[in-house]
Amino acid sequence: MAYPRVASFKSHEAFVDRLTQLEIDLPSDAEMFAGDQSPLASPIRVDGLDVGNRFCILPMEGWDGTVDGKPTDLTRRRWRNFGISGAKWIWGGEAVAVQHDGRANPNQLVMNKENVGDIESLKDDLFEAHAERFGKTDDLLVGLQLTHSGRWAKPNDKTKPEPKTAQRNPVLDKRLGINDDSSMLTDDDLSHLIESFVSASVMAQKAGFAFVDVKHCHGYLGHELLSAVDRPGRFGGSFENRTRFLREIVSGIHAEAPGLKIGVRVSIFDYLPYRSGEDKVGVPDDGDPRLAFGGDEQGLGINFDEPSMLMELMEQLGIEMVCTTAGSPYYNPHIQRPAYFPPSDGYGPPEDPLVGVARQVQATADLKRRHPGMTFVGSGYTYLQDWLPNVAQAVVRQGMVDSVGLGRMVLSYPDLPADVIEGTPMTRKKVCRTFSDCTTAPRKGMISGCYPLDPYYKAMPERELLKAAKE
Ligand SMILES: Cc1cc2nc3c(=O)[nH]c(=O)nc-3n(C[C@H](O)[C@H](O)[C@H](O)COP(=O)(O)O)c2cc1C
Ligand code: SF4
Repeated sequence: MAYPRVASFKSHEAFVDRLTQLEIDLPSDAEMFAGDQSPLASPIRVDGLDVGNRFCILPMEGWDGTVDGKPTDLTRRRWRNFGISGAKWIWGGEAVAVQHDGRANPNQLVMNKENVGDIESLKDDLFEAHAERFGKTDDLLVGLQLTHSGRWAKPNDKTKPEPKTAQRNPVLDKRLGINDDSSMLTDDDLSHLIESFVSASVMAQKAGFAFVDVKHCHGYLGHELLSAVDRPGRFGGSFENRTRFLREIVSGIHAEAPGLKIGVRVSIFDYLPYRSGEDKVGVPDDGDPRLAFGGDEQGLGINFDEPSMLMELMEQLGIEMVCTTAGSPYYNPHIQRPAYFPPSDGYGPPEDPLVGVARQVQATADLKRRHPGMTFVGSGYTYLQDWLPNVAQAVVRQGMVDSVGLGRMVLSYPDLPADVIEGTPMTRKKVCRTFSDCTTAPRKGMISGCYPLDPYYKAMPERELLKAAKE
């Protein structure tokens, strides 16, 4: 592998030297502040709600719910870990399907009448864990991520895709074995789905969540609709039609769950799908750049014309919270979750993963500059590893983002935010090294978790199965 590992940079200077060598524009503070002095400890008011600091936990599912969509002990353990993390903003917990056919796997949580009590108690577990560790919860903001997995749905069998698409996409259709239009959702299907989003939101409000995330990222249905340029009818073609799904869900929530706040997690840019090249390094596949929302004419760069229009629309709809992410873990994971070691169905990094981190950070900062009234949570920081706190402090201090979202890092190192804010030196052995086992495991039909570093998962028999499957 051509790229030096982050763990090999023994000083902040060495890390910054590498950024300079790569000509990456990514601020990083040499001096870290703790306690009240820390920019990361400064509270923020979001859509009228108090959030105690600048760390946010990104949604991460574990493929570990029951077949009827309720949380298990493993799900509860993860949410309790989110609670003890020290982050004061929980963006959605994990993807929760609004109806069965939209589940990404047969173990994804589902919000419905039968499950609402269990999902409420999952949130209570998180609050309880947070209160035990930090003494108060009045500055903790917790939302629920609502989703339909669309093209990537596998509701009944881990090995059987049952895609529900917004439009044809030759490259992705081929990968999923789609040969005709039968997977496409009709306008009536979408109208019914909008009702499911609204009723799941009403239930989320009853369960005590302060906001719902109407998910529009990672190639799932909401995201695919944003680029449904070839789709006929009410939900395709013009920008207005492609955002109708979001607008109708939002107006339904305003009518039926007044007071419930709304956020949107958006893939703010997308690239062409990638595949493994001859030397197993990722290369762009054929594909249609028009289907990459926020992508440029080649499908290999960013064009913010439409993402910025989306932000404007969200502002008009009264949505203040946005969580930025990019691309999709299924077809271009290197732009979404930069990693040194690819997941089993992935490809070797086509760029130093630090480039991928910087791309997301700068893209978020760009949108923040254009839409200063919105509150931005950024993603994709985990690959920074030992230097994550330095970059996090710098980007918040410089107003490039309002809150630093953490994904994989909190699977291996759940209380990293608390350590950073309290000025406790990082525990190196807990730092996520982006081994990607948490992505590979579900691809192999197993529950997700940090098998290499979390002692709980390390001790599981699945660890050995995973090793064998990888070989
Ligand atoms: C195991 C796993 C599960 C994930 N599940 C979700 C999810 O349910 N919803 C979502 O929006 N993103 C999900 N993501 C993406 C993360 O929220 C995040 O965007 C990504 O990991 C990049 O951030 P990081 O560099 O801090 O890991 C998941 C990521 C991982 C590794
Ligand atoms: S399995 Fe653990 S170390 Fe590997 S990417 Fe996931 S969280 Fe990081």
